[in-house]
Amino acid sequence: MTSPATRPKTFTVKSFGCQMNVYDGERMAELLGAEGMRAAGAGEDADLVVLNTCHIREKAAEKAYSDIGRLKRDDGTRPMIALAGCVAQAEGAEAQARSKMIDLVVGPQAYHRLPELLADAAAGRRPVDTDMPAISKFGALPARRKSGPSAFLTVQEGCDKFCTYCVVPYTRGAEVSRPFGDIVDEARALADGGAVEITLLGQNVNAWSDGARGLDALIREIAKIGGVERIRYTTSHPMDMSDALIAAHGEIDRLMPYLHLPVQSGSDPILKAMNRSHDVESYVRLIERFRAVRPDIAISGDFIVGFPGETEADFEATLAIVDEVRYAAAYSFKYSPRPGTPAAMMEGQIAGEVMDERLQRLQARLAEHSLAFNRACIGRDTQILIDRKGRQLGQMVGKSPWLQSVHVTSDAKIGEMIDVTLTSAGPNSLGGSLRTVEAA
Ligand code: SAH
Ligand code: SF4
Ligand code: F3S
Repeated sequence: MTSPATRPKTFTVKSFGCQMNVYDGERMAELLGAEGMRAAGAGEDADLVVLNTCHIREKAAEKAYSDIGRLKRDDGTRPMIALAGCVAQAEGAEAQARSKMIDLVVGPQAYHRLPELLADAAAGRRPVDTDMPAISKFGALPARRKSGPSAFLTVQEGCDKFCTYCVVPYTRGAEVSRPFGDIVDEARALADGGAVEITLLGQNVNAWSDGARGLDALIREIAKIGGVERIRYTTSHPMDMSDALIAAHGEIDRLMPYLHLPVQSGSDPILKAMNRSHDVESYVRLIERFRAVRPDIAISGDFIVGFPGETEADFEATLAIVDEVRYAAAYSFKYSPRPGTPAAMMEGQIAGEVMDERLQRLQARLAEHSLAFNRACIGRDTQILIDRKGRQLGQMVGKSPWLQSVHVTSDAKIGEMIDVTLTSAGPNSLGGSLRTVEAA
C-alpha cells in the first residue's frame, strides 16, 4: 500500500475513551490548525487521521486496530495515520510492528511535538514519541480561542493510586497538577471563546493541589469569571476528598450539584484486592457528607463486576451499596484483564457468562435508581443549558444542573440557558416546559 509521503494539508482527530482524551483531541486539533492544516469536513477524506485511543479495557484497545484497518481507501491509498492516546503510550513501537499502516506513535504527554513528528513521518521515518517530559506540554500548545458552550479543561493528569485492575498509572504517568494561574487563564480564554459551562478534568481531579490550595480554591476563582455560569469536575477519588471541597458544594451556586465518585465494588474484600484504599463504610459516609451540604446532589459512580475472586455474596454487596447510595447515574463494566496489571495475574478469574449475568442484574438495579432520581425531579423549576436539537420539530435538548437531558419545545439556540419546569421523567431523560421568570 502506498504510504503518504507528503505533509498532510487536512486532518481528522478521532477521540475514544474518557473526557481527558476528548480534551487532548481538541488541543491536538488546535495545534494542527495553528500549523496551517485544516480540519476535514464531514464526508471529506482527510490527509491525516489521528486516532486518539483508549487502553482501559481490551475492547477499547482492539478498536484502535480495527479502525486503522478501515482507513484503507478503495483505490489502495490511505491517509497518514498517527496513533495517539493511551494505546500509543502502552504499546509504543510494538503498535507499528502490529500494523504497518501506523506512520507515527505519540503518547498523551508528548503530543505538543506533533509538528516535528509529522515532518519525520512525511520523510518516511516512522517516529515514536512516548516520552513523559518533565516540562509540561501545555506551555507549548497554542492558546485556546473558540469554545462550544460546554468546555473541558484538564487541570490534573496522571494517577498514583495503582488500583490493581487499571492501566491508567502506566499510560498517563504520575499525578501532576497544572499551575493555578495557567488554569485560570485557560478558563478565561474559554469563557471569552463562548464557554458557559466548564468541566475541570483529571484522572484524579480532586487531587489537584498547588501545595497551598486545593480544587475548591480553583473552583472559587473560576466561579468569578464573567460568563461562566456552571462549573463541574470529574473524576474524583474517595481518598483525595477534602472538607473544603465538600463545603464548596454548599457555598458556590455555580458549582453544579453533581458528583462522580466511583466505588467499583460494594464488598470490602474486593475493594482491598483492588487496592482502592477506601472501604464501603468510609465511602457511604463521604456521600452522606455531600448530601448534608447539598441535599439534591446527584451521585454517579463506576462499577466493575467480575473482579478476580468476586463471589455471589461480594456481588450482592455491590447491589446493596447501589440501593444505599441511590445513584442518579452510573457506568458499569465487566472486568477486563489488562497486560501488566496485578489483577490480570490473580487467581479466581471469573467466567464470561457469570460476568454477563451479574452485569445485567447490576444495570437493571442502577436503571431503577436513575428512574427514581429522575421522577423525584418532576415539578422542579430549574434552568437547562441547551446543547442540541431534539428529534421532533421545534424541540431542543439541554442539560439540567443534575446532568440530565431535558427535552423542551422552544426556539432557544444552542448555548442558551433557559428557565424550565420539569414535567415528566424516563430512565434516560426528562421533559420540561418553558417557564417565564418575572424580573425581580
Ligand atoms: N480515575 C478514574 C477513571 C478510571 S477509568 C477513576 O478512578 O474512577 C474509568 C473506569 O473504568 C474506572 O472507574 C473503572 O470502573 C473502569 N475500569 C478501569 N479498569 C478496568 C478494567 N481493567 N476492567 C474493567 N473496567 C475497568
Ligand atoms: Fe485507575 Fe484507580 Fe487511578 Fe482511577 S484511581 S485511574 S481506577 S488506578
Ligand atoms: Fe482510556 Fe486513557 Fe482515558 S486508558 S479512560 S483514554 S486515561
